[in-house]
Amino acid sequence: MIIHPDCPEDPLAVLDRGQSLPARWYIDPDILGREIATIFRKSWNYLAPLAELREIGDYVTGSVGGVPVVVLRNAAGLAGFVNVCRHRRHEVMKGRGRAKAMQCGYHAWTYDLHGRLGAAPRADGEPGFHRDDLPLLAIRAEALGPFVFVNLDRAAPALTDCFAPVLETIARSGIDPATLELHTREEWRSEANWKTMIENYLECYHCPIAHPSFSAAIDVRPAHYHLAAGGWFSSQLGEVRPAVLAGRGRAAPYNLSGAVTQSQFHLLWPNTTISINPGFPNLAIDVWIPDGPGATRGFSEQYFAPGVDPEFARELIAFNRQVGAEDDALTVSVQRGLTGGLPEYGRLLPASEALVIHFQKLVAAAVLGQPTPLDPGGAASP
Ligand SMILES: [Fe+2]
Repeated sequence: MIIHPDCPEDPLAVLDRGQSLPARWYIDPDILGREIATIFRKSWNYLAPLAELREIGDYVTGSVGGVPVVVLRNAAGLAGFVNVCRHRRHEVMKGRGRAKAMQCGYHAWTYDLHGRLGAAPRADGEPGFHRDDLPLLAIRAEALGPFVFVNLDRAAPALTDCFAPVLETIARSGIDPATLELHTREEWRSEANWKTMIENYLECYHCPIAHPSFSAAIDVRPAHYHLAAGGWFSSQLGEVRPAVLAGRGRAAPYNLSGAVTQSQFHLLWPNTTISINPGFPNLAIDVWIPDGPGATRGFSEQYFAPGVDPEFARELIAFNRQVGAEDDALTVSVQRGLTGGLPEYGRLLPASEALVIHFQKLVAAAVLGQPTPLDPGGAASP
C-alpha cells in the first residue's frame, strides 16, 4: 500500500513535498476500514459536555469507531463502557439521561453503574454461568476542561497530555471554558469523505474566495493568519479586522465587538474541531464521523458564556451555518473530483496548507503502520 509509486521507500516524504494522498484513499472502503482500526479506535473521541454527567447515574451514549459506547458518572467518577450487552450484543443504553442501573432492553440483563452484571433472568440455573465473568467492557473516559472524550485504546496517553495546550489557547482568547453553557446541539450529514471535510477545515487559503463575509471580518492574509501544528492538534488563529470593529469597510456579518478578538480553529486529532469567533464569548465543538467512504455525519454543539444576548446567539449561529454551507458546497465538489480518480494526486502548498499536510501525514502513518510524524513538542501518541 504505497502512497506514491515513484517513492515507495518513504511514502511520508512525498507529502512533505506537497504531494497529496491518492484520490483512492477518499473512496476506498478498505482504506476506511484501516482508518477505523488504526485511527478512530486508538484516539480520543469527543462525546458530550461534562455538565451532562454531573450527578451519579447521568449517562450519555455515542459511537466511536463504529462501537456503541456509554459514559456515565458513578461513585468513583466518570466511567466508560462498550454499550453492548454481553449476552446477545444488543445495545444496552439509549440516548442520554439518568439511570440507577444499565438494563438491556432485549432480555433484561442488568448491569450496575460500575458495569458489573447483576440480574440475568433464568441464568442462575445454567451450569457454568458466572455473572462475574460478564461485566460490560470498560473503556477510558476522561475530561478536557468541560468536554468528555472516550478512547477504545487502553494504552493511549492521557487526554490532557494530548490536548491541554488547546485549552490554554482557548482561555487566552477571552473565554473561560469552565463557564461555557450549551446553547444548541444538532446533527448533520454531508456527502464527502471525513478527510475531505477535515482538510477543508484545516486551511484558510480558500477563505477569501469562498467565505466573503468571514474574510471581511477576519484578517485572512497569510502574514496575519497564524497556523500551528502542535502534534496531536492543529490551530489556526486569526484577528478581527480593526476597520470592521470601527464601522469602516464592509459591514460586519454580526456584532463582532466583545471580549474575544480572535478567531480560533482547532483540530483535536483525529476528528474533533473547536471553533471560536470574535465577539461575545462563544465556542462550537464538532465531531466528524465517517459514514462510509463517501459521506460524513456528525454533531455540532454551540456554547456561549452565561448571559448571551439571544439576538447575538441567533446571528452568530446563522453566520456559522452560512460558512458551513459554503464549506459543504466545496467539499461535496472535491469528493466528486476524488471519486473520478483523475488526477490521482493533488498538489498542496506547504506554506499555506501546512496543517493539511500534517494531517495527511498522521493519516498515512496510521494507515501504513509507520511511526507517527510528530513535532518535537508533540505528545508521544494519542
Ligand atoms: Fe471554509
